[in-house]
Amino acid sequence: MDKTVEYCHNHLDQTIDELMELLRIPSVSADSSHKQDMYRAAEYLRNRLLQAGVDRADIIETEGHPIVYAEKIIDPELPTVLVYGHYDVQPPDPLDLWESPPFDPVIKATDIHPEGAIFARGASDDKGQVYMHVKVLEAMNATGELPCNVKCIIEGEEEVGSKHLEPFVRDHRDMLQCDIILISDTGIIDRNTPAITVGLRGLCYMEVEVTGPNRDLHSGLFGGAVANPANELAKMIAQMHDANYRITIPGFYDKVREASEEERRALNNAPFDLEAFKKDLGIRQECGEAGYTTIERIGIRPTLDVNGMWSGYTGEGAKTVLPSRAHAKISMRLVPDQDYREIAELFTNYVRQITPPCVDVEVRFLHGGHPYLMPIDNIGYRAAHRAMAKGFGKEPVPVRGGGSIPIVPLFEQLLGVKTILMGFGLDSDKIHSPNEHFGLYNLQKGLASIPWFYHYYTNLYKETTS
Ligand code: BES
Ligand code: MN
Ligand code: MN
Repeated sequence: MDKTVEYCHNHLDQTIDELMELLRIPSVSADSSHKQDMYRAAEYLRNRLLQAGVDRADIIETEGHPIVYAEKIIDPELPTVLVYGHYDVQPPDPLDLWESPPFDPVIKATDIHPEGAIFARGASDDKGQVYMHVKVLEAMNATGELPCNVKCIIEGEEEVGSKHLEPFVRDHRDMLQCDIILISDTGIIDRNTPAITVGLRGLCYMEVEVTGPNRDLHSGLFGGAVANPANELAKMIAQMHDANYRITIPGFYDKVREASEEERRALNNAPFDLEAFKKDLGIRQECGEAGYTTIERIGIRPTLDVNGMWSGYTGEGAKTVLPSRAHAKISMRLVPDQDYREIAELFTNYVRQITPPCVDVEVRFLHGGHPYLMPIDNIGYRAAHRAMAKGFGKEPVPVRGGGSIPIVPLFEQLLGVKTILMGFGLDSDKIHSPNEHFGLYNLQKGLASIPWFYHYYTNLYKETTS
C-alpha cells in the first residue's frame, strides 16, 4: 500500500482542485431547474472515473436524475467491493447565511480545522467523500496495488429518497453482484476518534394539508366563526407528542426493537460532550424523549419532526387574513424493526382521527426508507476497523447514525449484500445547513484509510475462502 499512500499524498493538491470543480456544479436534486447540472455532475464523475483507470464508466439515464456506474474487474476470482455514493446535494438555502457562495468553494481555516476546510454545498455530503474514492481508485490503478475488483454506483437522487435507484438495482442484479458494499457518507466522532456507523435510521416522510373555507377570508369579517386551518393544523401537530416527548400515534412503537442494557451501555460509552453539543448549537438545554440520553435519542429512538409548515400571509408586515389552507411536511425517523409503509398508514389514520370536523384533511406519503443495522462479526466490519486504525493510528468505535441512506437496506434486500459505512465527516460539517464544509484533515484520513480497506478485506476474504 506504500505506493498508493504516496500517490495520494503527491496528488493532494490536484485532488482538491478536481473536487472543487465538482463542487462548482450546483447539482441540487430537489430543484428541477438544476436538471442540466445533474448531468454535468454525472458526466464530470464519469470522466474522472475513466481517468482513474476503470474498465468502463457509464451514465445511466433514469426517469429522474442519471446514475453513474463504473467498474474495474481485475480477476473474477477475487472479491468485489461495490462503492456507493451520491453526487446530488441539498438545496443551499437560506442563501444569506452563507459566508461564501455555496457553489463557489473556498478553503478556510477554522478552530477545529487549522489545516483548512473546503466550504461548499456538498463538500462533506457527499461529493468530498465520493471524490476520495475516485482518487483512491486512481492511485491504486496507477500503482498496481488494487487487490480486488471494484464497482461504483454514484447516484443523483439520494437527497430526495433514491426513488429511481431501487428499480435500477433490481434490474441489474447480475451487473451489481458483489461481496461487500462500502459507503463514505457518514462521519467520525472527532479527529482522534474514528467511527464506523453500524446503524442508520429509516425515514417516513409525509405531507398534511388542512382545508377550511373555499378562499382566504377577511379575519375580521369571518374570524371567530369559521375554522382557521392554520390554528387547527397547529393543534393537530401538538397532539403528536405527549409531555414526555413520546409520539402518540397508536401503534407507533409496537415494532421498535428495544436495545439491551448492554447495547445502551456500549452506545453511551462513546465519547460525547453534551456541553460542547449545546454550545455548538446555541441551545440552553437538550430536549427529547424522557428516559434516554442524547446519544440514544439520536441513535436508537424514533422521532417525529415538522420539517416545514406554511399557511396564510408570511410576507413583510401584517395582513389580516384567515387562510383557506394550511400545510405541514412531517417526517419520522424510524429504528429497527419499524416499517415505513406501516408507519405511513398509522400516521394517516391518526391524522384523520384527530382532524376536527370543521376542516378537511389530506395526507400524502412523499417517500420512505427502512432502518438498517450492521452486525460487527463479519470480515467487512473487521476490514473497516483495521483500515481506520491504520489511517488514523486510533481504533474506530461502532456508532449508530441518526441519518438515513434509503438504498442501504434495499441493497441487502435486493443483492443480499451487507454495507460498511466508513465515513469521514464530522457532526460539525454543517451538512444540509449553510456553510457546509469538509476538513482537509478528514479528506486526507479518507485517502489514507480507504486503500487499506481493500487490502484487509481482500486478505480476510482469501482467509475465509481458502
Ligand atoms: N449522508 C446523509 C445521511 C447521514 C449523515 C447518515 C450522517 C448518518 C450520518 C444523507 O445524505 C442524508 O442526508 N440522507 C437523508 C435521507 C433522505 C433525504 C431520504 C436524511 O437522512 O435526511
Ligand atoms: Mn449523504
Ligand atoms: Mn444528505
